[in-house]
Amino acid sequence: MRTAVTGGAGFLGSHLCAALLERGAHVVCLDNFVTSEPANLTGIRDHPRFELIDTDVSQAAWVGGPLDAVIHLACPASPTDYLRLPVETMRVGSSGTEHALDLAAKKGARFVLASTSEVYGDPLQHPQREDYWGNVNPVGPRSVYDESKRYAEALTCAYRNSYRVDTGIVRIFNSYGPRMRPNDGRAIPTFAWQALSGRPITVAGDGSQTRSLCYVDDTIRGLLAMATTSYPGPVNIGSAEEITVLHLAELVRQATGSRSEIVFVDLPENDPLVRRPDISRARQALGWEPSVSLADGLARTLPWFAELWAGRNGHTRGDGHPSGDGHARGDGDGDGHADVGAPRSSDSAARSTSST
Ligand SMILES: NC(=O)c1ccc[n+]([C@@H]2O[C@H](COP(=O)([O-])OP(=O)(O)OC[C@H]3O[C@@H](n4cnc5c(N)ncnc54)[C@H](O)[C@@H]3O)[C@@H](O)[C@H]2O)c1
Repeated sequence: MRTAVTGGAGFLGSHLCAALLERGAHVVCLDNFVTSEPANLTGIRDHPRFELIDTDVSQAAWVGGPLDAVIHLACPASPTDYLRLPVETMRVGSSGTEHALDLAAKKGARFVLASTSEVYGDPLQHPQREDYWGNVNPVGPRSVYDESKRYAEALTCAYRNSYRVDTGIVRIFNSYGPRMRPNDGRAIPTFAWQALSGRPITVAGDGSQTRSLCYVDDTIRGLLAMATTSYPGPVNIGSAEEITVLHLAELVRQATGSRSEIVFVDLPENDPLVRRPDISRARQALGWEPSVSLADGLARTLPWFAELWAGRNGHTRGDGHPSGDGHARGDGDGDGHADVGAPRSSDSAARSTSST
């Protein structure tokens, strides 16, 4: 099997490439590193069955030789990234998806689109089933991401119907695990980094909004299951274990042994208040369901952040913060966290760190 993975150097992509190699596949990774580090590929870069093409798939996505599957992950996915790269996000959802679909069409390959729970917007149906059409603000700040994914889904259907491309759509819910960037604005990296640094842990709103968090290995199993069937989807891939953002902050603080206080900050605009997939379809069509509990997933993830923290701690900026620890901007395919704006706590230490 030879598989092309667009966005293969990213958080999910690098885990996917490694999993494909483990299963004996040849892997061609197409990435321009706009939201990832080459270090994500350490360990697989020199693998004899791994090939890297440094390219912007919004411009072109070409791979020589045969392909069995094209898995299209390329897209800025965290709120920090897509708010920084709004036009690039729209381009990769539109032109990038078209190029990836053309590649699959020319090779006679299976095409899998990594779509998102964000197509449901701030959902009026809970839990979210695939036949729910969503509640998205087309002119809100998050629309560049949400609408480009909705367009990508529509284009995928058009290629299936018009050109008979074997397509599948996976709607991924919040996933987490090693290799997330501490500054990507998603809840677990942000909470972990704040807890490790002893700074206040910033929870958006009153923290009662919910998220469902899927450990990366489970998400990758879902993507692989979709790549090896001819099922069109869309299929939700995510955890049905729902947790409030405040409880998540408490779990991270406890698991890291941190004494950071928890402070509250403003909710970002259009942040979904609830988020949980109905995964009946994934169970039936793919025989897939998550197997890693949140407690186990955190136990596998937090040591990775602790190691990163320890590695960077010798290289602090003038303010004593490790370089690269950033500003959480909200949800996205993040997991329900935001610390935009000043903490609402009256504590002076919290006020002195107006954001992460
Ligand atoms: N992580 C999640 O929780 C989650 C949830 C839902 C959906 N998704 C989807 O899964 C995919 C991967 O997400 P991630 O969390 O790994 O994000 P990520 O930012 O870590 O990875 C995205 C990768 O795509 C690459 N990329 C972006 N634009 C590109 C372009 N024009 N040309 C070539 N490469 C480009 C980036 O450099 C990066 O390596 C995205 O499509 C995202 O929408 C992720």
